[in-house]
Amino acid sequence: MLDLLIKNATLPDGTTDTDIACRNGTITAVEPGITAEAARVIDATGRLVSPPFIDPHFHMDATLSLGTPRMNVSGTLLEGIALWGELKQIQSVDDIVTRALRYCDIAVSMGIGAIRSHVDTCDDSLTGVQALLQVREQVRDYIDLQLVAFPQDGVLRDPTAMQNTLRALDMGVDVVGGIPHFERTMEDGARSVRVLCEIAAERGLMVDMHCDESDDPQSRHVETLACETQRLGLQGRVAGSHLTSMHSMDNYYVSKLIALMAESEMRVIPNPLINIMLQGRHDTYPKRRGQTRVRELRDAGMTVGFGSDCVKDPWYSMGRADMLDVAAMGLHVGQLSSREDMAWCFDAVTVNSARIMGLEGYGVSRGCKANVVILQAPDPIEAIRLRATRLTVVRHGKIISETPEATAALTLPGRPGTLDPGAT
Ligand code: FE2
Repeated sequence: MLDLLIKNATLPDGTTDTDIACRNGTITAVEPGITAEAARVIDATGRLVSPPFIDPHFHMDATLSLGTPRMNVSGTLLEGIALWGELKQIQSVDDIVTRALRYCDIAVSMGIGAIRSHVDTCDDSLTGVQALLQVREQVRDYIDLQLVAFPQDGVLRDPTAMQNTLRALDMGVDVVGGIPHFERTMEDGARSVRVLCEIAAERGLMVDMHCDESDDPQSRHVETLACETQRLGLQGRVAGSHLTSMHSMDNYYVSKLIALMAESEMRVIPNPLINIMLQGRHDTYPKRRGQTRVRELRDAGMTVGFGSDCVKDPWYSMGRADMLDVAAMGLHVGQLSSREDMAWCFDAVTVNSARIMGLEGYGVSRGCKANVVILQAPDPIEAIRLRATRLTVVRHGKIISETPEATAALTLPGRPGTLDPGAT
């Protein structure tokens, strides 16, 4: 007896009319015509059945705090950091837990199965770390939450950030983060990358740094991160988040840099919604887009995953945990408009990001965890175009969220009475 049988599914690779059998939290078969009895059967005819969306870059200690204690008036990254500094002084562990759990509810309804969240490690009380370690346990059954120790104020610039970051790692935070472009000098930024990578190497951890999140074409921290990755044998375990300075760099230099990054097997995490909102703020016209060179990095063989970064926080007032919205922005800003490129943007919010996070048992094939999302769209490209409704979200073979189909009731003379907005 199966726990769940999904009939007539379409898979992201284009396979159609296949059935998916789930038992004891595992996908036991993916093939047409499965007839075994199941506690629950879902007909997915014409629907895309995908593994869950994965968000490889988020800030769960700040989410849903918009307006507390005030709004970001300039809209810049730096005012956001200053505002976050004000919020940190007044928020409690319980405040963060409440907001984070609420966000996880939203994320589940939007088909997200795993989130890598940075957590600020600069305050002596480690309020965010305490809160998110608690949340990581509380949501374990429905979201894989991976935490990055993130010294937001600069691990060297802030006098106690180093010791607090080490304390956070001792408490069980999973990944080493950093922010070299926020250190006081280029030299300090490079030193912060070296020190933090050494900590990761000693502890056997992954690295994920906010790296060169600026429009400065002279910034060189991506280069340092790639070099340190090689020096310390961290290949495949290091991610560079944002990398927006690469948008503005000299093309010859970038041709050299991308080869170095590829050798280092650096993972790349652009955050399209936030990058297009925050970058280029010092430009008049033309305004730079501030998204890193997604196509070129991908074509050099690197794993690229899109992150959402922020939802209703000091840096970004928008967002709804919709990784299809993230994919759509990445697609537009990167001009990724061929059929292959658009389908790849779906990979950038699913399988690529799962790889970056090191998730095991991810996918829709025999032996994988029975975690899937049924979308109101026939294929990945249409899913992005429509920001498709997540009809059913399955975790460990059990349904954990259902959303009704999106339909419109029309009263137009001589026209159909109902409309599926996605039907063309
Ligand atoms: Fe971030």
